[in-house]
Amino acid sequence: MSGIPDLTALATDAVAEIAAAPDLQVLEAARVGFLGRRAPLTDILGSIGTLPPADRGPVGKAANAARMAIERALEERREVLEAETMGAALEAEVADVTLPGNAYPLGALNPITQVRLEVEDIFLGMGYSVADGPEVESAYNNFTALNTPEGHPARSASDTFFVGQGDSVLLRTQTSPVQIRTMQAGPPPVYVIAPGTVYRRDDVDATHSPMFHQVEGLAVDEGLTFAHLKGTITVFLTRLLGDREVRVIPHFFPFTEPSVDVSVSWTDRHGRTDWLEVAGAGMVDPNVFTAVGYDPERWTGFAFGFGLDRIAMIRHGITDIRMLYEGDLRFLEQFS
Ligand code: DAH
Repeated sequence: MSGIPDLTALATDAVAEIAAAPDLQVLEAARVGFLGRRAPLTDILGSIGTLPPADRGPVGKAANAARMAIERALEERREVLEAETMGAALEAEVADVTLPGNAYPLGALNPITQVRLEVEDIFLGMGYSVADGPEVESAYNNFTALNTPEGHPARSASDTFFVGQGDSVLLRTQTSPVQIRTMQAGPPPVYVIAPGTVYRRDDVDATHSPMFHQVEGLAVDEGLTFAHLKGTITVFLTRLLGDREVRVIPHFFPFTEPSVDVSVSWTDRHGRTDWLEVAGAGMVDPNVFTAVGYDPERWTGFAFGFGLDRIAMIRHGITDIRMLYEGDLRFLEQFS
């Protein structure tokens, strides 16, 4: 048996070296060294066929035993080293929950939206419901049914954005058409507000914009008087703006009679104390009731339309309406 290499010693040495491998790289080098293409054991296994027939059996057996012992040792050591590596990685990656977090920028509601939500809250508290209407409206709802006949200056193309050909469809110039839609939808009593966007061909200056926001109000019941209107406006403005001087003076609107202008004292951008008109209002004109099929002999009502943008300006001391629409974060962040 002198031609047979000492495979037992080879396996013992290999197993010892593998068990001592300090990391996965060294282990891989050992695998290549003991079982790779150029390894002595691989040579032996490959040359068994060239041995004298009597040697083939014992050498083959011993070589296979050595290979299996080495493979087992490699496998065992790999498991140990991988577990150690994983443990080390987990330890290194431990999250420090005491570190300060990342601050992400937070969005906020535009001041007009904030005011609208507060207005809705106040009127919901007084028993009103909130209605909605389209921004593209018929001239009938926006004007005719509101007692504003053809030829009225408000209906001219210089004041109104018409949609398509002709003058029967337009961007609503006021939220007042929601009064018509609400009354057409059902009988009195009615207590409703309707906030929304309106459009006019207004020149842009510090207090005008071609797109702005109103909140309409309509109350229809038996026995409503101007005192109810004034009380409602006073309660509303006090809740929203606190104690401020409010001025109510006669005005004209086609769909209310009598009609008034409501102004609130404020300080303009030149530092002057002045009145800023915030609403039109009045007692619903009987012609409007007739247009929607309500009996004007039985029902009385009041209506109002507030400018939400103007209220937001007064509320926050904003002296230029354009700031509300420019999306300048340095401005908007003050209201978050
Ligand atoms: N719609 C009017 C405007 O935009 C404001 C207004 C006035 C609304 C009187 C009303 C009202 O409901 O009764 O100028």
